[in-house]
Amino acid sequence: MTRLGVNIDHAATVREARKTNEPDPVQAAFHADLGGADGIVCHLREDRRHIQDRDLDILRETVTSHLNLEMAAVDAMVEVALRVKPDMVTLVPEKREEVTTEGGLDVRSSVGRITTVVSTLKGAGIIVSLFIDPDMTQIKEAARTGADYVELHTGCYAEAKHGVDEAIELEKLERGAQAAAKMGLGVSAGHGLTYHNVQAVASIPEVEELNIGHTIVSRAIMVGMEQAVKEMIGLIRSAE
Ligand code: PXP
Repeated sequence: MTRLGVNIDHAATVREARKTNEPDPVQAAFHADLGGADGIVCHLREDRRHIQDRDLDILRETVTSHLNLEMAAVDAMVEVALRVKPDMVTLVPEKREEVTTEGGLDVRSSVGRITTVVSTLKGAGIIVSLFIDPDMTQIKEAARTGADYVELHTGCYAEAKHGVDEAIELEKLERGAQAAAKMGLGVSAGHGLTYHNVQAVASIPEVEELNIGHTIVSRAIMVGMEQAVKEMIGLIRSAE
């Protein structure tokens, strides 16, 4: 069964729009858990635009399923991860000016640095995933770093025009997932997935886990987090 990690960053985005104390991403995580989420994902960005250090600390104390921390492969964040000890760290590229994570990690150009970070985190008992494009070179380089998982970036698939372009991007994800699994890597996928486009990705047999945020938080504003998560799980289950 494909697991669902619910990214609750954008509950914090709404809070930070007013620099107040609501909505609380920790409560969002609690309700996502009640809706059946297999884990909670959050991204502690260098500019702290949504999730704050305190959120992460409280999430670590309260999330009993699986906590996946997305972060840049920089020393300051490695220190945070070693202190907080999430169950999993997903290394992502990060640029200050971006609206959201654009593109996957370029593992090839920084394989030494990433290998060191992977080994430090794994030494602390943390499962490590690399967020990469479904590109064969990146997948091979990811395997060299000793990472446990790759998370295949589904952004190009999500943005592709319905029809041929979408089919091409889906095929890249299918082939990437197969190749990664053959190399002994666990495979997850995410970014830009919605209630409308999730099923094709959920039906890829090698994809063990989907990490989804914006669309679930958006739906949660309308129907509540528990219901929004249940609806997403329903779509994933019927696609498997
Ligand atoms: N996976 C990774 C590595 C991400 O950086 C993000 C965005 O924070 C997501 C999944 C979730 O993307 P979305 O919010 O578009 O569902």
